[in-house]
Amino acid sequence: MSIRKIVTLPDPVLRTRARKIKVFDSKVQRLADDMLETMRAAPGVGLAAPQLGRSQRLILVEYAEADDDPEAPPVPPKLFVVANPEIVRHSTETVSANEGCLSIPGYLGEVERFQSITLRGYNLHGKPLRVKATGWLARIFQHEIDHLDGVLFIDRATQVWKVEDQEAVQVSPTQDESRKRQAVSS
Ligand code: NI
Repeated sequence: MSIRKIVTLPDPVLRTRARKIKVFDSKVQRLADDMLETMRAAPGVGLAAPQLGRSQRLILVEYAEADDDPEAPPVPPKLFVVANPEIVRHSTETVSANEGCLSIPGYLGEVERFQSITLRGYNLHGKPLRVKATGWLARIFQHEIDHLDGVLFIDRATQVWKVEDQEAVQVSPTQDESRKRQAVSS
């Protein structure tokens, strides 16, 4: 595993529709390993292969869903590695929140996303998988799947702004009142 450089705008790979993964071999496994290490080092809650300059349909999401009860013990983050992900179902309800992207450092935007989704895809052994996600987890998946189609959060945002403090972009979402001002980067 190695930490690799995250590609940033205006690199054209971020605007390219990524190719489907057809062979689940050790190269794909190595790419996923590098993505995981790079995402954790950033740190981020999600990463798509084009962000490492590889135009392939592979995403990682690692996120701990916060409990509604503030006194509940912290939930360990759950890691999802999905090849060829596709949203097969989504809620009609949408929700607006702030997002950042590791490929667009220093910017945040308010983006409307589906409140819940069901996605289909494959694990690294080529076995089909299905994930149901709501809230922030659903948002991160939608953000990463967009990356595979060359779509960035700034394309969907109702407003985009520059953040002076880089740290603000790296904050993870929490359930508290300041949540509206916080954002995920992925
Ligand atoms: Ni991103």
